[in-house]
Amino acid sequence: MSLSVQLAPGNERGLLLKNPVMTASGTFGYGMEYAELFDIQRLGAMVCKGITVEPRDGNPQPRLMEVGNGVLNSIGLENIGIEALLRDKLPVWAQWELPAVVNISGESVEQYAQLARRLEGKDGVSALEVNISCPNVDRGGIEFGTDATLAAEVTAAVLRETSLPVIIKLSPNVTDVVGIARSVADAGADAICLTNTLRGMAIDVTHRRPVLGNIWGGLSGPVIKPVALSMVYQVASAVKIPLIGCGGITNAEDAMEFIMAGATAVQVGTSTLASPGASLDVLEGIERFIEDEGIGDINELVGVAHRQSNLSGSQ
Ligand SMILES: Cc1cc2nc3c(=O)[nH]c(=O)nc-3n(C[C@H](O)[C@H](O)[C@H](O)COP(=O)(O)O)c2cc1C
Repeated sequence: MSLSVQLAPGNERGLLLKNPVMTASGTFGYGMEYAELFDIQRLGAMVCKGITVEPRDGNPQPRLMEVGNGVLNSIGLENIGIEALLRDKLPVWAQWELPAVVNISGESVEQYAQLARRLEGKDGVSALEVNISCPNVDRGGIEFGTDATLAAEVTAAVLRETSLPVIIKLSPNVTDVVGIARSVADAGADAICLTNTLRGMAIDVTHRRPVLGNIWGGLSGPVIKPVALSMVYQVASAVKIPLIGCGGITNAEDAMEFIMAGATAVQVGTSTLASPGASLDVLEGIERFIEDEGIGDINELVGVAHRQSNLSGSQ
């Protein structure tokens, strides 16, 4: 039984994971925190918290709240900044068997390029994940992910500075996700991650004001799974590069839905906040599923739901 997947077939280095289960940015810190709780080296890859050029304190409190079957967050990209990441995190990741993917965020195209340049040629990083989809920061983030031309510009700027595989993380807050996906694929992205959080908010009716200090935040968790899944399904028929499915995955069945919709790998995010070992549980469930179904190679299942729907569609 083979679970290994290649996420960057077009890149010289490639991004070969021993299994398709990754952690989602912002829900797994820098990995070290979780290494004490379970054997994180068993996962396919770890994606760290989004990094910016300068350290950030993030948005005012409150910044995290539970809503029906999901979570609203307005963390606002609180992070240690690129220099501390290079100094303190990369040397640790370089000792790991687990590939570390660095999620980067910029306020301008030049800042994305700058981050890629600082990470080039460094041990301890296996790929870049470019966040052009954060819905809760004032500048940058989502504006690059909601405009096909800007999205392609960021992709090209990052690719010019790096030899690492480049994953572009798209926003669900758009009307034409396929157009944006095509645009970043044409610009040379190695893979696409779908999706980031959906913009949302909540109002405290007693105090008659928004609950989150930042007014709005990003909605994640099981409530967004059908949206993310449909985007993976749509984009899978439009681009040839690998997709990574993300949004509300809590168990192996959720993960298999994304894989059958066309994702080569999956990311587990909000579930980790409730249960730190959620990603490992998803992996073990996938292993059982593959074995029970007598599947020799998980890649055989990538996108199979399309073949099924084509068949029924032809009748
Ligand atoms: C608290 C929190 C922080 C997040 N921070 C980031 C981030 O820094 N960069 C990023 O690209 N996505 C970030 N995300 C989005 C997740 O990586 C993921 O795309 C989204 O939550 C959907 O997946 P999920 O439903 O499994 O959580 C964050 C999500 C949460 C809940």
